Amino acid sequence: MRLLYVTSEVFPLAKTGGLADISRSLPIALKRLEVDVRLLIPAYPSALAHIEKLRPLAKLKPMLGIDEALLLTGILPGSNVPVLLIDAPSLFQRSGGLYQSRNGVEWPDNPLRFAYLSHVAAQIAMGRTELGWRPDVVHANDWHTGILPLLLSTEEAPRPGTVFTAHNMAFQGNFPPDILPTIGICEDHFHNGDIEFYGQASFLKAGLHYADRVTTVSPTYAREILTPEFGYGLDGVLRGRGSDFSGILNGIDEALWNPETDPHLPRTFGARSIAGKRVCKAALQEEFGLPISPNTPLIGFVSRTTHQKMADAILTALPWLSAQGAQFILLGQGETVLEAEFIKAQAEYENCVSVHIGYDEALAHRLQAGSDIILAPARFEPCGMTQLYALRYGALPVVRRTGGLADTVVDADAHSIADRTATGFIFDEASPDGLVSAIERALAAYRQPLTWRRLQLQAMAQNFSCDASATQYMSLYREIAGAAPVLRE
Ligand code: ADP
Ligand code: GLC
Repeated sequence: MRLLYVTSEVFPLAKTGGLADISRSLPIALKRLEVDVRLLIPAYPSALAHIEKLRPLAKLKPMLGIDEALLLTGILPGSNVPVLLIDAPSLFQRSGGLYQSRNGVEWPDNPLRFAYLSHVAAQIAMGRTELGWRPDVVHANDWHTGILPLLLSTEEAPRPGTVFTAHNMAFQGNFPPDILPTIGICEDHFHNGDIEFYGQASFLKAGLHYADRVTTVSPTYAREILTPEFGYGLDGVLRGRGSDFSGILNGIDEALWNPETDPHLPRTFGARSIAGKRVCKAALQEEFGLPISPNTPLIGFVSRTTHQKMADAILTALPWLSAQGAQFILLGQGETVLEAEFIKAQAEYENCVSVHIGYDEALAHRLQAGSDIILAPARFEPCGMTQLYALRYGALPVVRRTGGLADTVVDADAHSIADRTATGFIFDEASPDGLVSAIERALAAYRQPLTWRRLQLQAMAQNFSCDASATQYMSLYREIAGAAPVLRE
């Protein structure tokens, strides 16, 4: 099986969130199943800085007004997965974020940048580059690659089969339709409604409509987004896909997120040698400028500080948390109003609230390792990776019963504690009260050291490796490999 995996981010070449994590763990797991997988991503400056064994491969033919572009190749660090990089300096060589300028404004040419990624992917897929390699299946991810299934759907046989994975229905890539000629998309696709979304051209809708198979990243989210509440206006398109649409749970890169070997930690630890976690906790309290206190519950939050992640509800709960004698630490960035509120709370509760606004991969590892409890509430959560890392690092997660959170955490009630299946604390109501009720139960359990230890061991024993995900994607790939053109009406 030859697979081209197309994504806008992959750790450690480029990362803004969980998409980068699964874009790493899945190809690595597929490689273990002997899939000939190659990643395709833009050659952002960070990608060029981190890629290993970089060398040029071929010149890309002029497309969409981009005359000077090269296809490069290298190896994803810490793996044996080959990466193809699109070196189109006018689109991807800029300082700032992957999608935004330094001051948080979306790059105005994002539709062109990511349409170009899809066009290059389609060229590779159809054997029109000098690569000398063609995939049987193309796997496209999120709105950035949404028009790739559309482009391939218009090709004559033989063409590769296409899988499109939606990692978050809230990010849709909707743009004014007058951009279509400049990004090489025939306007008929808009006028017949296939990619039209409230008067805009939607990259996400293109992916959902045209791919041979559509997936999302957990079974519960797959059910949720068939409803208007979670589908962000695209639930009807998904319902129309019937059994071609499914949910496959993400898995983690167990080599990267392993408390027994993690190079970012002051002391490693594991289920059989948990003492090191105490060292990590003390170091973390010190790093965040809080009193070093082994018996004070340390509650961590590592996340985008956004409405999706219920950062607002956490803020409301902070006075209550401080009254409980707990410590709260945040590593995050996101909505500036919420960031400012966290900084204010830090000043108000200086002995128990400490925040680090920013993005810091190594600190994220230390935060998981040193925390007793990790908050991962969310109004919606396609899969969520932080609660999976929390489980592995013996930091019990507090999550809301939605999406992948509901699929990966077992609530600690009398029954699940007794039969040793409990791994965290779940609440239902998307409100500060809902959140507080679950944290309250977590703190009560924390005060019972034997129960807590048992819960930690159960959490750490969970297997969220990517092997199960890879096996499920493999069966999808087999169904559609080398698909005859399915001209979808
Ligand atoms: P999402 O992709 O929706 O933001 P996930 O839980 O799937 O949420 O993935 C988040 C990823 O980003 C995790 O790897 C987490 O550790 C990381 N992360 C989030 N915020 C930060 C931050 N401020 N610094 C470092 N890593 C972060
Ligand atoms: C998105 C989702 C998150 C998921 C990640 C990887 O960022 O918000 O829930 O874990 O994609 O699939």
